[in-house]
Amino acid sequence: MSLQRCFNVRDLRSAAKRRLPAPLFHYIDGGSDDEWTLRRNTEAFDDYVLRPAVLADVANIDLRTSVLGCALDLPFFLSPTGMSKLFHHERELGAARAAAKFGTLYALSAMGTTRIEDVAAATSGPKMFQIYIFKDRALTKEFVERCKASKYDALCLTVDTPLAGNRERDRRTGMVMPPRLTLKSLASFAASPAWAWHFLRDPDFSIANVTHRVNALGKGIGLIDYINQQFDRSLGWKDVEWLRQWWDGPLVIKGVSTPEDARLARDAGATALMISNHGGRQLDGSAAPIECLQPIRDAVGRDLQLIVDGGVRRGTHILKALALGADACSVGRAYLYGLAAGGQAGVERALELLRDELLRDMALLGCTRIADVVPSKVARLPS
Ligand code: FNR
Repeated sequence: MSLQRCFNVRDLRSAAKRRLPAPLFHYIDGGSDDEWTLRRNTEAFDDYVLRPAVLADVANIDLRTSVLGCALDLPFFLSPTGMSKLFHHERELGAARAAAKFGTLYALSAMGTTRIEDVAAATSGPKMFQIYIFKDRALTKEFVERCKASKYDALCLTVDTPLAGNRERDRRTGMVMPPRLTLKSLASFAASPAWAWHFLRDPDFSIANVTHRVNALGKGIGLIDYINQQFDRSLGWKDVEWLRQWWDGPLVIKGVSTPEDARLARDAGATALMISNHGGRQLDGSAAPIECLQPIRDAVGRDLQLIVDGGVRRGTHILKALALGADACSVGRAYLYGLAAGGQAGVERALELLRDELLRDMALLGCTRIADVVPSKVARLPS
């Protein structure tokens, strides 16, 4: 299926499914436990209806906005996602270049397969680095210093991962990290020749910003074991304050769902929140970001910028989020399907589809600027 024959994000998902070995497709696509939250993230948008104004002179639509101190051409950007090289050899560089081409922000994950410095060198577009506060505080601090040196615009601290969620699809498909050519994986690799060719040419799937640290520890510990050991279940809000000492730029806390935590994040020094449940990959049974938004906006007022992260597959989803008080949305799978389907060109196709839907939907809603997408543009359906 060519990218041009993909008419929406669902089509990109089908194209990704066709190109990737099954364990990798399900690694992107899946969530935790029964995947209730994964489904809910998108379905909850259906609880809201848009309220169009007609005859509103929509000859010129302007999607520009400002998020995290960055002027963006779009009110949505790319969420941080790890291990992009698993999905396409153009990896994080392809995604970051696509984001820059569309005038939006790229968030590089701490679990990325590309170095902080290499993303910065490849694009002059707005950039954010997603960090975890690892047990190895020296490495955490080193990340911050490297982001400063490479002129990242913002730092994003993910806080919903004291440990990994229960991803049963990965266990069923035998997803192993890094991927290995085993008897079990052979059939799915063979069914994905384009992917397998690149895999065999360059089977290095290191987590690029961490490898040097593991190497310095010497023999006896693998990269994945090291990473698994680094998640610190004892973290608290005081640790956010610790991080704040080293970084005085925009700080986003990612993974907040309640007004109580939103206030704590503000008090710990956050400038923005990504309202997120990690795309339904962590606590199954937690609410969709879109339904958490309004109570959080009511609690923090304009003190924090709010980003809805999860379930976004359509321009109308973004409009509903903006109308309910979001400053922007971010997308994970929507662009990862594109990356898997066609590298940078696939990410560009994902961004193009969402942008064009948004342009059309803004006109149909009777709005010409992001600031026009106000609460009266949306209503909650009676439950
Ligand atoms: C993620 N996500 C994620 N988040 C994060 O903070 N650090 C990470 O390394 C990753 N890695 C990652 C890998 C994959 C394959 C997926 C699908 C997701 C979560 C991501 O940033 C975002 O919160 C969700 O993807 C948002 O939901 P949607 O847009 O995928 O529905």
